[in-house]
Amino acid sequence: MNRLGLYANQLAHHLTITDNRTGKTIEVPISTSRESDFIHATKLGALQYQGQPLRVYDPGYMNTICCTSKISYIDGDKGILEYRGIPIEELAEKSTFVEVAYLLINGELPSKSQLQEWDEKLRKHTFIHTDASQMMKSFRYDAHPMGMLISTLAAISTFHPEVNPALAGEGVYKNQDIVNKQIYRILGSLPTIASNSFRNRIGREHNMPHENMSYVENFLYMLDKLNEKEYKPHPKITRALEVLFILHAEHELNCSTAFVRHLSSSGVDIYTAIAGAAGALYGPKHGGANEAVLRMLEEIGDLKNIPQFIKDVKDRKKLLMGFGHRVYKNYDPRAKIVKQIAYQVFEITGKEPLIEIAIELEKIALSDPYFIQRKLYPNVDFYSGVIYRALGFPTDMFPVLFTIPRVAGWLAHWKEYLNDKENNIVRPRQNYIGPEKRNYLPVEQRKEFPIYLESNKSSRQKRRETATIS
Ligand code: CMC
Repeated sequence: MNRLGLYANQLAHHLTITDNRTGKTIEVPISTSRESDFIHATKLGALQYQGQPLRVYDPGYMNTICCTSKISYIDGDKGILEYRGIPIEELAEKSTFVEVAYLLINGELPSKSQLQEWDEKLRKHTFIHTDASQMMKSFRYDAHPMGMLISTLAAISTFHPEVNPALAGEGVYKNQDIVNKQIYRILGSLPTIASNSFRNRIGREHNMPHENMSYVENFLYMLDKLNEKEYKPHPKITRALEVLFILHAEHELNCSTAFVRHLSSSGVDIYTAIAGAAGALYGPKHGGANEAVLRMLEEIGDLKNIPQFIKDVKDRKKLLMGFGHRVYKNYDPRAKIVKQIAYQVFEITGKEPLIEIAIELEKIALSDPYFIQRKLYPNVDFYSGVIYRALGFPTDMFPVLFTIPRVAGWLAHWKEYLNDKENNIVRPRQNYIGPEKRNYLPVEQRKEFPIYLESNKSSRQKRRETATIS
């Protein structure tokens, strides 16, 4: 429904609210959308008391819509996900990641020539500045690849001062050519930055992008090519990763995507916003979940340990990682596809033993009232980690494999945000429960409050503390 449709509907439905503090009654229009009806929080501000407007309290955004978007649609109860209206199942079967990125960012599937041009532009931007590559080499040998990716993205922002709003002026992103250029640069260079972070970890030189390979194939090529004259990744492995990229490309206002909009609202340059969003994705409750699933499966280690693990989850000592979702209260449609891909990958790589534990865990959890009552189903991360493991990726590369495709969704939201007439700097309010106004006391007059100030101490530090110091 378009915005005009929304407002037409507002006239038909409304809430009548009477404030018993003041006796004032207001009518708040209800807007209707494909997802859920809503009211505008600012309308409640008309209910003033002691000079203050009434506000809504919603930690964790449990029931808050914060933007209007046309990018993706989720029906969490039915387990539906669509990108620009197209079901994820169709895209996973018929499309490519580059085409899906075009769809997400530009709103429609490309024509043949548009796709060719888009692909060409992304390819051209797979090369990163040699200074950036050099900088990446100075990370420590055991640096987490996400740490490298996030810092490198932020660092590359300094390579383009002419299009950084902090330097070139706030209006710089009003120029669509500049916006497009940043999209090509970021999306094009992501596989190169990601593969460089992997090459650092294995102590190998960074590979240059191949001039004649698809986006995903080139990523695998840059990860793995050694001294071979011709190196071509297995087409089935390329396709498996391509489908995983499609499934991970976009998921409306998850923690990291919401963060892209949040950061963009300050007018910061897009590299910094993407680096910040990648930071949000890195957390184990979000994009780090596939890494956490693998560590969980390893910890369980054997089928015989599953009942005890499930008991620990029900006793709230542990979380069943890869289960549960803020939006899906049904089987995550992506998880179904990922489970199928797992078996396609095993045909080439051999079966990953942890899959047995994952399948048994899923079987037990889906028949246990604890999980049924809470509508906890496998999410996209439950099986993706097992595939990545079968493909030989170290566990800490998993969130990187999530980040590369998700950047397409982030850039789509950035572009939409820039053109949104309702966009405004994000500035929530708080419920202040701290001290009332009081005066500063000189140190001699203060009483001591018990405040815990200890921090972790290494054995080395403890040894140092036994030394005589003068
Ligand atoms: N294991 C055990 N219990 C769970 C789990 C879980 N994974 N997830 C939720 N619950 C319980 C929770 O304890 C609560 O129980 P009760 O009502 O008795 O207190 C109930 O289910 C509702 O959970 P919630 O915490 O209110 O749900 P939420 O919407 O706030 O959290 C979530 C969603 C994804 C953060 C959470 O389910 C979770 O931590 N899952 C594990 C991490 C994970 O797999 N994350 C990947 C999400 S999908 C990819 C992505 O978006 O990045």
